[in-house]
Amino acid sequence: MSTKPIGIFDSGVGGTSIWKEVHALLPNENTIYLADSLNAPYGPKGKERITELSIKNVDLLIEKGCKLIVVACNTATTNAVKHLRSNYNLPFIGIEPAIKPAALKTQTKSVGILATKGTLASDLFHETTDLYSNGIHIIEQEGEGIVQLIESGQLNSDAMKALLDIYLQPMLEANIDYLVLGCTHYPYLMPMLIEMLPKHIKIIDSGEAVAKQTKSVLDKHQLLNTQSTKSKHQFFTNGNPEVMQSLLGEGFKVEYLEF
Ligand code: DGL
Repeated sequence: MSTKPIGIFDSGVGGTSIWKEVHALLPNENTIYLADSLNAPYGPKGKERITELSIKNVDLLIEKGCKLIVVACNTATTNAVKHLRSNYNLPFIGIEPAIKPAALKTQTKSVGILATKGTLASDLFHETTDLYSNGIHIIEQEGEGIVQLIESGQLNSDAMKALLDIYLQPMLEANIDYLVLGCTHYPYLMPMLIEMLPKHIKIIDSGEAVAKQTKSVLDKHQLLNTQSTKSKHQFFTNGNPEVMQSLLGEGFKVEYLEF
């Protein structure tokens, strides 16, 4: 058993959607969250730069005493998690687009995936897609500009709706019945997506699976926190704390930190 915190990082505020799932499943666990908003978006950056930024975040979380790290960013996972796993001596949980469940369940044999350029271009994404796309039409769409709008507090804006209109159109034309959200910022688009998409299209993300995997890996390494004292949560951002604060609500305090 360990009272050390779980470390979670993302290119910005999106990974808080994953933090919420982890906290819901593991309420006893202490957590430290890093939002590297200063360097967001990671999506258009190359593999080398994404790996460098991931290393910087991991080093800080380790310095702060974390026992396990959740890479709450599809772009960082698909580009850097192999490097992290082979260079650090602690468990990493990664997140990848939920292509597998969508491909197994689709009736129309047509699945849409919205993700960043970095995720869609990665080897890991291609490996997974190749495994499950047999006989299935996968419509890959880069969500260019979405992360920037969320990071600047324009989640529910006309600009966002206009972008989504453009990005969803080819998927609707291809008769998708599953839309995979392949970026941890995108679950915050859920209310808008539900309004924009026909009811029969199911929207899925990997948040719950990541939380379950976190629990199982902590258990396997005997690192679960079994103490019932109230858990402690620290949120650090090198960007504007207000944006993250509004996504988390009033119960949790977001601090500015240079890193
Ligand atoms: N939340 C990150 C992801 O899951 C966003 C990447 C970005 O900053 O472009 O991919």
